[in-house]
Amino acid sequence: MIGRRLLTADDWREWRALRLRALATDPGAFGSTLADWTGPGDAEERWRRRFADVPVNLLLDLDGEPVGMVAAVPADDAVELISLWVVPAARGRGVGEAAIDAVVELAGDRPVVLSVRAANDPAIALYVRCGFVDDGADPDDPLERRMRRAPRP
Ligand SMILES: CC(C)(COP(=O)(O)OP(=O)(O)OC[C@H]1O[C@@H](n2cnc3c(N)ncnc32)[C@H](O)[C@@H]1OP(=O)(O)O)[C@@H](O)C(=O)NCCC(=O)NCCS
Repeated sequence: MIGRRLLTADDWREWRALRLRALATDPGAFGSTLADWTGPGDAEERWRRRFADVPVNLLLDLDGEPVGMVAAVPADDAVELISLWVVPAARGRGVGEAAIDAVVELAGDRPVVLSVRAANDPAIALYVRCGFVDDGADPDDPLERRMRRAPRP
């Protein structure tokens, strides 16, 4: 069974543990790097500050084990989905879709937007299955595509 939990700043250790695994395992999928968040960048105060900067941070559990994460930030008239990751051993079991669903639900009547590496075919296929459409090249990064999903009726 897939569960989801909205984390607070006091849960920063759980977020840190999974986020560092994500950055180490799939460095090509994210704008941040492992180097940004290790060594001097790996400080409790910084992880806690992230919860102030990014208001929605969800952990996804599969049979009670934390296996996935996703976050969301307001972006103009929309909500931006960021930091989606599922541990490799739990992939292909609907955790990624559940994470996207959670953000779409939280967005309510606002569209959901995101950036994804143009070469990240598995993620793009999943976003398309979840109702996202291509919204052009990311003006800030030619290697990324923007995608957008209309609110649920
Ligand atoms: C993209 C990602 C979040 C998807 O998570 P997931 O839990 O595997 O997602 P789902 O199970 O909901 O759907 C995955 C799709 O791949 C298929 N799949 C099957 N086995 C799989 C496997 N071993 N690994 C990955 N996908 C698999 C699933 O069936 C599904 O496709 P379909 O149902 O349309 O056929 C995950 O692959 C990941 O963390 N990738 C690296 C980080 C990343 O790219 N993040 C997005 C940044 S924009």
